[in-house]
This record gives sequence, structure tokens and C-alpha cells, in this order.
Amino acid sequence: MIPVSSRASTIEYAIRDVVVPATKLESEGHKIIKLNIGDPIAYPGLPTPQHMVEAYREGLAEGNNGYSPSYGLAQLRAAISEDESNKGWNCAPSDVYVCHGVTEALQIIFAATLEEGNKVLAPGPHYPPYMAYPQMYGAQTIEYALKSNDGWSIDFDDIEAKMDDDVRLLVVINPNNPTGNVAGSDEIDRLLSIAKKWPNCMIVADEIYDGLDFSGKHASIASRSNDVPVFALNGVSKVYYAPGWRIGYLAIHDPTNVMVDVRDGIERLLRSRLCASTPAQLGYLAGLEQDRSWMDEYSSRVQKRRQLCLDRIANIEGLEVEAPGGAFYMFVRLDDDYWSNNDKEFVLKLLHEEHVLVVHGSGFSPEKGRGHIRIVYLADEETLNLAFDKIEKFLARHRSAKR
Ligand SMILES: Cc1ncc(COP(=O)(O)O)c(C=O)c1O
Repeated sequence: MIPVSSRASTIEYAIRDVVVPATKLESEGHKIIKLNIGDPIAYPGLPTPQHMVEAYREGLAEGNNGYSPSYGLAQLRAAISEDESNKGWNCAPSDVYVCHGVTEALQIIFAATLEEGNKVLAPGPHYPPYMAYPQMYGAQTIEYALKSNDGWSIDFDDIEAKMDDDVRLLVVINPNNPTGNVAGSDEIDRLLSIAKKWPNCMIVADEIYDGLDFSGKHASIASRSNDVPVFALNGVSKVYYAPGWRIGYLAIHDPTNVMVDVRDGIERLLRSRLCASTPAQLGYLAGLEQDRSWMDEYSSRVQKRRQLCLDRIANIEGLEVEAPGGAFYMFVRLDDDYWSNNDKEFVLKLLHEEHVLVVHGSGFSPEKGRGHIRIVYLADEETLNLAFDKIEKFLARHRSAKR
């Protein structure tokens, strides 16, 4: 047997790992209600806006099928810099680097900043790549706590206790996946005041859900920083409803000019992987440049589904949730003693018995996500109600079986 690298053999991505048994059930003819994947296109009523699709299509038809510049199309970098500047900081087109999604931006950032022995401080629970990728560069991800009984807000004491000279990157996902917590300006300022004490530390501001803030308190992290360096991350996947296009960006906010070498490393890495998809960049450009009033309608659709889930969960014995302020996830606590220690078994049993697919919380952090499930609340109302009917039935059946 030819050996696999140890790097690859330990990678896990819980959100898609649970799809394997679901696909098997589907192949046997079962219909699965999927509330597992954060892809708005997988749910009805949230298509990619038509003017963006048209711009992508026109890009193809007009022959824009060649490589584009490594840092992104000039018009797109300009439009992104304007959009970021409107969030309250001075972002130049040259600060913007277009990538194949935030996912590629993360790989580039990790490759450009991490050495053996370095640490990434990331929220627990968190979106899985923040744990998986830093290891590839010899670094380690350490989780800081989110307060599970206080809306999953950031535990600053825990961050303070875990900061040291080896922490290169302090990650904030705002709004958060999987909890939906939104950090406001006061919290961001507090975080920046901690980071400021550590001159080698940069902030990774994953703001891919920033247009899905229902709390009204979201603030861009770069806009609050006068000294701490920030990577602002965003893209087309969530707020513009086109995750399959694989377009995102990193924007560098370096108020005290300490990132000159890191920036050079990032540019070298970007040139070595050629460029992001050219026609997809044109689609995103249309989204940024044209009217955005469609977003209100989409937002209200998402909020209706959010409310339905909150109402249903409030009336189901065995489930509890901290109401999310943004994104489209709920991180639901399993109250029953047994399930609170066996969330993956809950997910697999629910899938096999009721054909509803959610993700186990321990997939977002073995320690801090345990005893939870993540639900994507984007399905239509009828489907959500059906899913909750099934979850309720499942919980009751297993509760009575144990009594
Ligand atoms: C917090 C977070 N960051 C990044 C991504 C992926 O972004 P992209 O599609 O731009 O790679 C996701 C997708 O679910 C996410 O939840």
C-alpha cells in the first residue's frame, strides 16, 4: 500500500462527512431532509440574483475565458475596496486580493504567516477549516471559549489567558458559524485592545456573513483598528448567494505598516497559483456595482425561517437554543442527558430513523461543541416544520424508550 501523508489522513470536515451515510440512504430510495449544509442555493427561494448570473454569462459569451491578474480583476478590486471602505476603513484597491473563496484566502494566509510552533487562536466552536489547515504548516489551533449560556459571546478572559508570543493569528468569525453570534463594536474594541499587546499577532476577520446581521450591531473589525493588523475576509458565497462560483477575497488593513513582508509573501503565493475564475469575478462585480435592494427581500425570507425555528425549538422538550443574531445557523443544545454526551450518535440515528440530516456539534469542536447540533435554517417553512415534527417524534421516542 502506498502511504497517504499524515497531513491528509487527519483532515476532517464534519459538515460533509455526514453526507456520506445520507447519500447511501438516498441511493436506497429514501428522501432526506437536509439541514446540514450552509449553501443557500440548496434551499428554495434564495437563487443567485439574475443580474449577477447574466454578468457571468456575458463574461463567458464575450470571451473572458482567459487567466486574469493574480490578485484579481482591476475593476473588481476597485469595487471591493469601495465596499470595504464603506464599512468604515480606508481600503485601497491594492489592499484587495481576490481568491477562490474565503477558503483559498485562508490557505494563503496560513501559508504566508505560520511556521512550526506558531499558534492560531480561533473560537470554539468554529468553522472546521480553522482547525484543519494550520496543522499543515506545523502550527496548532487553540480554541478560545464562546460563552454557551450567553448567546455564544466571546470569552475575553479566555483569550487573554491564551495569548502569547507564538500566537500569529487571532480569528474572529463575525457573524459566527456555527453559533450565529454577532460581535458589536464594544466587543471588537475589547478584542483589539488585547491583540495590541502582542506585536506579532494579526486578526483574521471572517466576515463572510456580515450582510446577514439581524442584530443590527455588526461592525467591521478593520474599521475599528488603528494599530492591530487585520485580514478582512469576505466574498460572493453567502451574502450574494453564489457559493459555487468560488470567489472571495482577503483585504489587508495594515495601519502601522508591519505587514510589508507578509504582504510580499501573500503576493508570491497568489502569483504561484495563477488566478481566480475570470467570469465568476465578473458576476461578483455586477453584484457589487448594481442595485442591492434585492437583499432586503432575501433577508426577510431568511428571518422568517429563523423565527419559525426559534418558535418550534421553544416548544420541543429536549432542545434549547441561544437565538442567533446573524448568519443562517442555529447551534441547538441537546438537553437530554444521553444525547448531551452523544451528539454524533444523535445525528446518525436521526438520519437513519427519520431521514433528517443535521451536523453534530462536536464536529465544530470536540470539547466546546459537544452536546449540540447545528441546523441550517434556510429550508422553506413546510420543510422546516416537517423536520421539527420528526425531530420531536425522535426525541420523545428515545426518551420513553430509556425510561
Ligand atoms: C465562517 C466561514 N468562512 C468561510 C466559509 C467558506 O467561504 P467560501 O465559500 O468563500 O470559501 C464558510 C462556509 O460555510 C464559513 O462558514
